[in-house]
Amino acid sequence: MNILKPAKLKCIVLNQLRHTWTFLLFVVDLLQCIIRAPQPTTNNQEPGLQFFNNNNNNNNNDLIMDQDLPEEGLGQPGDQPPQPQQQQQQQQQQQQQEQHMQVEAQEVVPFDPRDFVARIHAIAGAAEPMDAASDIDEEEEEDDEDVDVDYGDTDSDSEFEEMYSDESTSSDELEEQKQLSKQIDVFLTSGQHPSELQGPLPSKPQYAFQPLRLVKCQYRDKHFPGGFPLARSGHRIIASNSHLYSLGGYNPRSALVASRRGRCLLFQELWSFNFATSTWKLELNADNASNMPVELASNALTIHNNVLISHGGTGYPFGESCSNDCYVYRTASAGATPGVERLKVTGDLPTAQYGPGIVIHKHYLYTIGGTTGFDYTCDVYRLDLRTRIWENVYISRPEMRDDPDGRYRHEVVYDGKHIYVLGGGTSHSVYDLQRIPAYNLEANCWDYFDTQPDRRAFDLDDGNRGYPRPRKCFSCVQHQSSNGDIEAFITGGLQGDFSTYFSDIWKLNLRTKQWFRIVTASLPRPLYFHSAAHSDNGCMYVFGGIEYNDKEMRRRNDLYKMWMTVPKLSEMCWDAITYYNDNLDTYDRKSLLGSGIPKRFVDRLPPQRRRRLDKNMPDPSMMISLYSNPKRARSTTH
Ligand SMILES: *[C@@H]1O[C@H](CO)[C@@H](O)[C@H](O)[C@H]1NC(C)=O
Repeated sequence: MNILKPAKLKCIVLNQLRHTWTFLLFVVDLLQCIIRAPQPTTNNQEPGLQFFNNNNNNNNNDLIMDQDLPEEGLGQPGDQPPQPQQQQQQQQQQQQQEQHMQVEAQEVVPFDPRDFVARIHAIAGAAEPMDAASDIDEEEEEDDEDVDVDYGDTDSDSEFEEMYSDESTSSDELEEQKQLSKQIDVFLTSGQHPSELQGPLPSKPQYAFQPLRLVKCQYRDKHFPGGFPLARSGHRIIASNSHLYSLGGYNPRSALVASRRGRCLLFQELWSFNFATSTWKLELNADNASNMPVELASNALTIHNNVLISHGGTGYPFGESCSNDCYVYRTASAGATPGVERLKVTGDLPTAQYGPGIVIHKHYLYTIGGTTGFDYTCDVYRLDLRTRIWENVYISRPEMRDDPDGRYRHEVVYDGKHIYVLGGGTSHSVYDLQRIPAYNLEANCWDYFDTQPDRRAFDLDDGNRGYPRPRKCFSCVQHQSSNGDIEAFITGGLQGDFSTYFSDIWKLNLRTKQWFRIVTASLPRPLYFHSAAHSDNGCMYVFGGIEYNDKEMRRRNDLYKMWMTVPKLSEMCWDAITYYNDNLDTYDRKSLLGSGIPKRFVDRLPPQRRRRLDKNMPDPSMMISLYSNPKRARSTTH
């Protein structure tokens, strides 16, 4: 019998043991919360608002905050910016801690006095090193049984090679559980609502600015189920300095629900995410924006004067109906009358395509490349945004001359003179990132640039000797470093051979054409059909996409951020303030300005929408998030 096999037996015992440990840990946590004497503060400084109130020289804040920090040494990622000694020590400790985790998790408590609990955790970890991971696996398997249908048969394009989908997996739920226990913790120790606390939550590590580190943004505990976007791919994001916007996308599970209701199978949604408060808001959907397009997968998206412009895209099934329209989106969060408008255009329109790249140069919107689902082009068209007349400026003929091959899901980078076309591919091919075609805006021709490999990545087993490997469906953002150079950061993607998926992050300096592999950051798992945006201050955000995990594909709604550079000191301060106080929207403007926060940062907050609560009354939304079953609730929301 099976049960007599020693190996099996060991498995079972270990399994049991693990559950016992989990229970024990919970009890110890709980006991410790109840017994604990008044919280010893872990920080010498009162952070956040308090910090400003203590500063009686408020008028200087703006001045101090505006001084820039030099950016030297950033060429070697891993170098730390000059820091006060105390903070450096802090960082070292954090780095050691991070060696165990690629993505910084905020649950970890480096300076917590509760080392007793930590020790128990450590023992538990040693006894069952696979603990967390195997938990996730188990639950994910269970989760798969929920998947109603195998969508593989309806997907023709290679884009849809992924047959398995998921809107949110159990690892999210594990995370949510951790968040919940943290909240319970707070209730027990302080009797206060978390948003009433002035300082950091007891378990929040001290803020440390770290460039070139990928950090997961925790937003789930701040929302009702359905209050944030479901997992999606093929969407597009773009950012202002205050908000991230996510347009469209696809998830087969939601599509099934939508088709039963006779609705659009793609997400006809424009979401915003406020950076300061880590809150999502559904800005526009089909119910209140009648002009919302239905071609909302693999479109191109840009932002101009706080107005979003999308171009191209496909409906579902992919490639069956494509768009050559431009839509303009205005949002309440950007202070405009919300709505979406299809631009009425004339002239020589581009072919209706999806997966193009767009750039705004002067008063023109340029679009390059894309696919109808059958043909792939690298043609250049431009729309005069004043006259709304389209113009065909360059038809690429790679069969006749040295023009770049047709492609889709490439990325474009712009330096004022050229539009660089990075990677991309067709259903069965990908283009390299070594010799880069660039459309010359002035001369109306294609130039080619040979890039320089990253010598440090030379001996890595990447097959391409210091260059990022050819790819499509990756993400790319650009920013201008303090010396004026434009740098492009690319993330993830796939090779289209059904076995090569990327989690790496690379930087290309457009002036020197030098590639750098970012060694201090990578995605936790390979990701493609995701999207990235630059929030205008040196920070990159990556959202959604399809995660490749052991031959399984899952759509995600994870949001990551990474500082690409050392930003202005004021941005760093704001980052720290919002790190400790993600509830600034509960204060009125006057008191924020009065406490010394410059107006341009206060302006980044959403309008005050929550009243500060009575200290003894738990927030009703908190009660819901504590007691509802997120999994069940979520599956009925869409
Ligand atoms: C559209 O509906 C969503 C969800 O109900 C809401 O959050 C948003 O404010 C609405 N927008 C407009 C312009 O009414």
